[in-house]
Parts: sequence; structure tokens; C-alpha cells
Amino acid sequence: MKGIILAGGLGSRLRPLTLVTNKHLLPVYDRPMIYYPIQCLLNAGIDEVMIVTGGEHAGDFLKLLKNGKDLGVKHLAYAYQEGEGGIADALKLAEDFADGEKICVVLGDNVIEGNIRQAADDFRAQASGAKLLLKEVPDPHRFGVAEVGGDGTIASIVEKPKDPKSNLAVTGIYFYDNDAFSICQTLKPSDRGELEITDVNNEYIRRGNLTSEVLEGWWTDAGTHESLYRATKLVAEGGANHMSLPAKVGASS
Ligand code: G1P
Repeated sequence: MKGIILAGGLGSRLRPLTLVTNKHLLPVYDRPMIYYPIQCLLNAGIDEVMIVTGGEHAGDFLKLLKNGKDLGVKHLAYAYQEGEGGIADALKLAEDFADGEKICVVLGDNVIEGNIRQAADDFRAQASGAKLLLKEVPDPHRFGVAEVGGDGTIASIVEKPKDPKSNLAVTGIYFYDNDAFSICQTLKPSDRGELEITDVNNEYIRRGNLTSEVLEGWWTDAGTHESLYRATKLVAEGGANHMSLPAKVGASS
């Protein structure tokens, strides 16, 4: 299984911090945000990783991560997204890299306490389709929200609903088979002008080929000032998976 980290976007909700750098290079406690999704993938036994980014600061990823060896990445690839087409548009750029294999897609601003190893192993054993990781949150209107049917399966996902049907957010960690790429080709832009990952997930639901698990431990995004602060606080207080990073690469002591 290959890993794909989506780290594009303008980071407009984090201005002015993102005027001179990419959101995913901002610090979360003691290291750049992008280290956390990398570690999330490594913890799941995934060491072939593509970072999809864009914008004028894209070159800074290369300066920071180089070929990924210092962090334990066996093969680090990069793709450049032109424009602001959304998450599913960015994913399209990873098709050749995936080369027919299953993929684990992680949004570059998602930080988790725990480990997705078990979910990754479960998906390795799943014949086809997709798997989502869900998390109960107090503010579901900020996320894709899963409506769970009586049998425990997801009936539908609504992106940022005004009136959420549950408090189960769809986290930014997704497992897909290779069909994800052909599904992305069929999508139409949403009202915010983006190809939505929620539309990819709803297509897997329509095909009856989507499973889900609830993520253990805390989860947060870090794309707003409030959530970036929360992520920093949780990591500082909570021994997140970052503690198992091979080294504070670049640290002076
Ligand atoms: C994206 C997805 C949303 C998901 C969230 C997780 O939202 O569209 O479904 O719940 O990531 O972080 P964004 O924060 O990019 O608007």
C-alpha cells in the first residue's frame, strides 16, 4: 500500500501565517505539521509516500524533507497541483505513483494521537473498496459528517452540514483501492468550486463497498488558528505518535 499526503491549498484560514509559507510547514509544537502525516503512514507500515502540494512555497518541502531518508521514508515523491481544485483534484495527480496499488490518503493538516496500523491491516485484508476513519467531535458542522444506518454501516456523508445528523466526523485519513482515481475523473465541482473527497466516498457507498472504523485517541485538524493551537497543545501534553519519530531531524541538540 502506498501513502499519499495532500498538502496543497492556500491556507487562507491561517493568514497571515500562510502568506510566506505553506500551511503544512507551520510548526505544531516542536516540528513542522507535515511530519505528523508522514509519521502516521510510517506507523502503518507505509514507507512509499507522495506529497501533493502547490503554490509558491512548494519548493520548501524539498528543502525540509529532501528525499525523506532522515525521517525513515524509503521513497518520497512529490507532485505539484496547479490551482485550487480541491482534495479530489489533488488526488488525481497520484495515479501513476499508486501504480494500481491500494492507497492510504492523509490530509496534511490532520494530527492524531494514536496509530492507524490496525485499520491499515484491516484494509490490506479487504478485497476492494474504501475504508474511512471516523471520530466523534463536538463541532461536526466543520467536517464531512457520516450518517450511520441501523446496521452500523454509513448511509451517506454530508460535507459541512448546517444540521448534522450525527457527531461522527470523517477524518482526513482514507483508504482506497485503485477505483478512487476513475471516480475522481467523474466528479463535478461543488458549490465551493472544488472536487470533494466526500463525493468520492459517497460513490463507494453507492457501490456498497465502503467500510469504516472509529479512530482511537484524539484527532484534530490544524487548518484554522483555533485548531492549530489545539493541535499544538494536544501534542505538547499528550505524547502523540510524533514521539516515535526517528529523530528531531535538524534539531541542534
Ligand atoms: C476536509 C474534508 C472533510 C473532512 C476534513 C477532515 O475538509 O472535505 O470531509 O472531514 O477535511 O480534516 P477541509 O478541512 O479541507 O475543508
